[in-house]
Amino acid sequence: MRKQIVAGNWKMNKTFTEADDLVNDIMNKLESVSLKPETQLIVCPPFPFLEMVSDYSDDSYFEVGAQNVSDQESGAYTGEVSAAMLESMEIGYCIVGHSERRAYYHETDAIVAAKVNQLLKHGLKPIVCCGEVLEERESNQQFEVVKHQINDGLFHLTAEQFGEVVIAYEPVWAIGTGKTATPEQAQEMHAFIRGLIAEKYGKEVAEETSILYGGSCKPSNAKELFANKDVDGGLIGGASLKADDFIAIAEQF
Ligand code: 13P
Repeated sequence: MRKQIVAGNWKMNKTFTEADDLVNDIMNKLESVSLKPETQLIVCPPFPFLEMVSDYSDDSYFEVGAQNVSDQESGAYTGEVSAAMLESMEIGYCIVGHSERRAYYHETDAIVAAKVNQLLKHGLKPIVCCGEVLEERESNQQFEVVKHQINDGLFHLTAEQFGEVVIAYEPVWAIGTGKTATPEQAQEMHAFIRGLIAEKYGKEVAEETSILYGGSCKPSNAKELFANKDVDGGLIGGASLKADDFIAIAEQF
């Protein structure tokens, strides 16, 4: 059975005190709800708050993920954070290839592939993002674009390595815009991605891979998105910055 995952990507938000308050609120909220046992929560705060957030959870309430990692092992790369550093802090997950990193920091599929390699080498699970921009959707190129991203970013892996990967389909036109993909659009793309994985690694690996939806996911639309058979949860931006909304989304499975 593949995991159902709700992951909160805090992006570049919150000061230390605000982050502390948010994770405290999440913990309090979790005490009063009962999520399905197969629902995995992941919180991805900015780097400086990773340790504080991990200390709260001790892995029993939620896992902790980073939002980025260096494609290099170690050395003179000022400002970068290595997979070995994250491993040494027992961070379980890391987002890679987010559209904001692709657009603003020129993260190519080759860089995504190198980052995924670093993460796997150090025992972290990559949450690899893919998705088309509006123009590509409007010219019906979304499948070609996503196929390319998955092929070039991930299909160099062995089947065993691929088993550690979580995929997040995030149509760029839906991120932070309030415009969510319809459940049909999400299901169609998720089924397409699962088909690509089945072609490359076989049906069993494809059935075990969690494919999350991201883009203006909130408590009011999570249920109809998660009800689709190939949508295994969400990567949540804005709504993960409020404990009530984040947990309410996780309750929609
Ligand atoms: P929003 O939920 O704010 O649209 O962001 C989605 C996202 O980019 C998560 O990685």
